[in-house]
Amino acid sequence: MIRLQPEDLLLVLGARPPSDVGAWLRDGLRDAVASGRLEAGAALPSSRSAAAGLGVARGTVAAAVDELVGEGVLESRPRSSVVVADLARHPVGASSRGGPADAPPRPASVGAPDPALFPRAAWARAVRDAVRALPDAELGYPDPQGLLGLREALAAHLRTARAAPVEAEDVVIVSGVAQGLALLGEVLAGGSSGRRVVVEDPASPGVIEQLRDAGLDVVPVPVDGRGLRTDALPDAAAAVVTPAHQFPLGVVLAPDRRRELVAWARDGDRLVLEDDYDAELRYDRQPVGALRGLDPEHVALLGSVSKLLSPALRLGWVVAPPGVREALVDAKRRADLGCSVPEQAAFARMIESGAYARHLRRARLTYRRRRGLLLDALAREVPHLPVEGVAAGLHLVVRLPDGDAEARAVAALRGAGVPADPLSGASARAGAWGVILGAARVQGAAVPRVVEILGAVVTRGEVSFASPRE
Ligand SMILES: Cc1ncc(COP(=O)(O)O)c(C=O)c1O
Repeated sequence: MIRLQPEDLLLVLGARPPSDVGAWLRDGLRDAVASGRLEAGAALPSSRSAAAGLGVARGTVAAAVDELVGEGVLESRPRSSVVVADLARHPVGASSRGGPADAPPRPASVGAPDPALFPRAAWARAVRDAVRALPDAELGYPDPQGLLGLREALAAHLRTARAAPVEAEDVVIVSGVAQGLALLGEVLAGGSSGRRVVVEDPASPGVIEQLRDAGLDVVPVPVDGRGLRTDALPDAAAAVVTPAHQFPLGVVLAPDRRRELVAWARDGDRLVLEDDYDAELRYDRQPVGALRGLDPEHVALLGSVSKLLSPALRLGWVVAPPGVREALVDAKRRADLGCSVPEQAAFARMIESGAYARHLRRARLTYRRRRGLLLDALAREVPHLPVEGVAAGLHLVVRLPDGDAEARAVAALRGAGVPADPLSGASARAGAWGVILGAARVQGAAVPRVVEILGAVVTRGEVSFASPRE
């Protein structure tokens, strides 16, 4: 194994700047790994000797290394040193910790976070501490509404992070937004307000499937640059919306439309199902507060850890209006008798200890930087490419001129290991061509690859962007 010396690092990093030494170190190392100037498998010097050799604080070295390990650029080997990751083997920064050697990797979803950022050590600590502290009484069948300790911790977190009135008694713990929607769909289908439910167009095909499976009839209502067209709301029992960061278009529901949507719900005693998609992953400003804040009686707020920690945990919540809470808890009990108590207790620990907030800050910074680098490269190399959405979340939408360009872009991106879905598959309207691109793991060598693929598709398309945007 090649063992790098501090001088080797100096050689690739160049002269030490007078300020922002952390960024110099982090960005320089990242570039050196991505460009192959630091060879895969080479071991870094210890943080002590690197700090001495580079003339920086040891904490600065440790922070930069930590971040790059999180990004998958470096690998931390147990009881050994930190080594340069093999980005050719993991082209989009996939975690270096693969599964069984012969298990083919399952394609990631466009909205999935980078698994390399999952705070393994903090989660493992939270599980250990939480399980040790669990009273025997909590090791029977769970409270189907959810562990009280988690509901309390979440309520406090959501009051601050989402500016929404939330008490522990309002919260129902579910195994993700998917289950929350399915259970609320079941409650709605069994109610007396009818089976029609408004969905955004475009929307997640998975969400539509869940609602249909629950026995509801979905009524698509178009989304434009200001979110759901509230002037086109029909009569229905409920509406499912993604106001913080519309999936997939990435727009934010405008303030007047928020008020109109809530008035629609209140006037007809309807329910708004607020899928709080990407709300805590806003990069340019504080996220807009939850719709629930406008009317807690008619808005159910649904969220999960899927984008923030990992979708593998299957852990989410519904902040339920009083009118549906009991029926929802009953539906949860009938579905699976409640969520895993040790997992709930561990998540409560993560929130209470501050580890969750620390992870969110770090994830936001990492994704913001990756998104910025990708958008800069696209703007430079393919300046006319229409990339949509506000600075938030884990995916981008690029409009394309026709179905052929869409199919080529999706196939090429998937071939390069970048999650991609056709926009047309998310819309009931003809002519909504584009690609929904999972950007969470796009970094290093994957950036020019994505630029190359989209550039080639657009150049060969040679068709004007007559898009169905309102
Ligand atoms: C818009 C939208 N809402 C909800 C979900 C489901 O999320 P969860 O993992 O919390 O069940 C998805 C899945 O990717 C989604 O795309």
